[in-house]
Amino acid sequence: KKVVLAYSGGLDTSVILKWLIETYDCEVITFSADIGQGEEVKPIEANALKTGATKVYIDDLTETFVKDYVFPAFRANAIYESQYLLGTSLARPLISKRQIEIAQAEGADAVSHGATGKGNDQVRFELSYFAIDPNIKIIAPWREWDLNSRTALMKFAKDHGIDVPTTQAKPYSMDRNLLHISYEGGILEDPWNEPPEDIFTLTVSPQNAPDEPETIEITFKQGNPVAMNGKDLSPAKMLKELNRLGGRHGIGRTDLVENRFVGMKSRGVYETPGGTILRSAHLAMESITMDREVMHLRDSLVPKYAELVYYGFWFSPEMTLLQNMIDETQENVSGVVRLKLYKGNCIVLGRKSDLSLYNEDFATFEDDNVYSQKDAEGFIRLNALRLRIRKMIRK
Ligand code: ARG
Ligand code: SIN
Repeated sequence: KKVVLAYSGGLDTSVILKWLIETYDCEVITFSADIGQGEEVKPIEANALKTGATKVYIDDLTETFVKDYVFPAFRANAIYESQYLLGTSLARPLISKRQIEIAQAEGADAVSHGATGKGNDQVRFELSYFAIDPNIKIIAPWREWDLNSRTALMKFAKDHGIDVPTTQAKPYSMDRNLLHISYEGGILEDPWNEPPEDIFTLTVSPQNAPDEPETIEITFKQGNPVAMNGKDLSPAKMLKELNRLGGRHGIGRTDLVENRFVGMKSRGVYETPGGTILRSAHLAMESITMDREVMHLRDSLVPKYAELVYYGFWFSPEMTLLQNMIDETQENVSGVVRLKLYKGNCIVLGRKSDLSLYNEDFATFEDDNVYSQKDAEGFIRLNALRLRIRKMIRK
């Protein structure tokens, strides 16, 4: 028997690797996706082999992640519960898709992941697995075993000669990729407690950000950022650069309590520096290039889009439908936005586009001969008609 495990190299998935071999007497192939989690990927191969993997896949998926998962969501201005930019939610379907491809190429009998039975991630992984391979077998150790505490995991690791990371385990759970870092659990569980300053990794505190603001220009083409300060950048390079700039200026920290798909509320702290800048810039680009009714209709669908991503329905017919519609709205979202980054703020300074619908001749407060102010009287009177009738009848 053969199992493909989504392996991060941390304590949890190392224990899972050994546990699978022991419990199912199977061969385990590990798969690790590099989606910009920093240096964590380097020691993975040696560790996986040492813990008993028969084969190790480590794939650099950073460009795909940004181009095919992050950018589509930012074209939609996707945001969950008005605050969360979906950094973890967007990565899961990509990891799942590649994992199934490997499972099929290797003729594996099952796939496995390290998400707990209480969270969103298990749902996202498994909905994606099923959407791509309807008959796939899934092993979710957290829902099967009785190693339900950190202490139990450590003991299992010690008993089985698994190298426990020597660095003191952080008293909270983290998930990192090119879009964000999330922190939850442990010392963050009490939503009244402020997150300690030292958890933050990508951003400086706005208080410690430079006193000098920095101005940047982002060029958009059909809703995607394609150049910074006039220089073309690939999707991943763009996000990396925005992260660096945003991080330097303390942009993109969010502290929230969110509703998980499985039912409970959960406190999360996030750093999304580049994504936060990108969202402001994209909204500004749309403001001059998008028709009002198209925008308002699209806006009404953003919560639904974000909910689908958060719940794990990336590979679903309703998601395809929404994305196609969103992408049609982006046809003319091209031009340049100028922004100032300053102590936690991302301030829009200017926007321009060859496809702009903004027209000074119409908007001006000065004398003009294209808009007749007299027309507004009838416009208002007809719009008021039902309000007046109602009041007259109900008098
Ligand atoms: N609460 C966020 C989400 O559901 C982040 C999840 C982080 N996952 C993790 N395994 N630490 O998208
Ligand atoms: C987990 O439970 O594995 C992480 C948190 C989540 O998926 O929501």
